Amino acid sequence: MKDVAVIGIGMTKFGELWNKSIKDIFVEAALKAIDNAGVGHIDSMYVGAMSGGLFVGQEHIGAVMADYLGMNPVPATRVESACASGGTAFRQAYFEVASGSSEIVLAGGVEKMNDGVDVTAALATAADQEYEVYNGITFPGLYAMIANAYMHQYNATREQLAAVAVKNHHNGFNNPNAQFRSEITIEQVLNSTLVADPLRLLDCSPVTDGGAAVILCPLELAKQFTDSPVKVISTAQASDTISLYERESLTSLKAVSDAAVKAYKQANLKPEDIDLAEVHDCFTIAEIVASEELGFFDKGCGASAVEEGKTSIEEGTIPINTSGGLKSKGHPVGATGIAQVIEIYEQLTGQAGKRQVKDARIGLTQNMGGSGASCVINILEAL
Ligand code: COA
Repeated sequence: MKDVAVIGIGMTKFGELWNKSIKDIFVEAALKAIDNAGVGHIDSMYVGAMSGGLFVGQEHIGAVMADYLGMNPVPATRVESACASGGTAFRQAYFEVASGSSEIVLAGGVEKMNDGVDVTAALATAADQEYEVYNGITFPGLYAMIANAYMHQYNATREQLAAVAVKNHHNGFNNPNAQFRSEITIEQVLNSTLVADPLRLLDCSPVTDGGAAVILCPLELAKQFTDSPVKVISTAQASDTISLYERESLTSLKAVSDAAVKAYKQANLKPEDIDLAEVHDCFTIAEIVASEELGFFDKGCGASAVEEGKTSIEEGTIPINTSGGLKSKGHPVGATGIAQVIEIYEQLTGQAGKRQVKDARIGLTQNMGGSGASCVINILEAL
């Protein structure tokens, strides 16, 4: 297997992009990445997209995007793993380069969620239809059950959940591509509209349109294109039961810990070697539990860690979601995993501006599908 590097990045602003089609959004991100990498062509492309069919009536996303990007006849593959589609597309692109089958590969992701469909129902197709959705479950509902169980088991407080949202909005305030660039307070979170008890509006990631893309190539070629390539040192994936009721514990996300064990082993690292992480905070409770499964905190300590500032840029031992995370930056589901890689790339190459983590060398992305039935983790290192 060859060593693989990321050599260029591009993304659209995340938000409600009413005047852009799904094709416009993807192409804007892809052209920015191609331009940023300075490559004259690509050999292949992967596009993470959860549900083009349900959101905008468009399937066959790989071919559609290659065509609109003017890249025919390159192989173009759509990758779907619910909200982990982007991270999984990145992993597939990595393998294509690492295997030696292609040299310059684009990994992208896109979703257009704001075109008037029933987003909650469309997203719920990633849960178990028979045993969960037919009985009225939604994604806010699933994560609300996790939050209730966690608060009960570990005496965690509502304020601690809210602290995740406050931190991520604080970080997103300094991200020009974020959907919500507004600081919020604990009180605002606690007083926002109840969505699924105990989760409130400001505990939830929003409904977002957006696209993101990165360019990968063999590390041995990377210096031809950039002075600051970022090496992919690990990529790991795991799955778990799709239904919450089948899990041994409601307060664990086993796909995350299983993928993390593999990812750390592959990179020969421990959790304490990671300088920063982009974690899948689709709801505030998700960031807390995932931060424990990634080994950053002991079980039951993730909630207090956020409150104590251990995950902040300013004073954290492990800054989490410096981009603003899904909560503030936005969550166009298929693009999210790629946008996480983009934040780590910017951090490791010193381009993160006011969000910059000092001396960041190694960054991790954790991208999760549904209520944790799939998880992909990528670890990158500055050279
Ligand atoms: N965070 C912050 N503000 C939000 C927000 C969010 N998640 N969602 C909406 N808003 C804001 C809107 O900008 C709007 O503000 P405005 O009145 O100043 O324009 C206001 O809140 C109402 O927005 P609206 O679109 O009517 O909200 P909604 O009730 O239709 O949707 C949620 C709110 C939380 C239900 C929706 O964002 C949601 O479903 N989020 C979860 C998405 C999800 O499950 N993703 C997959 C995870 S696995």
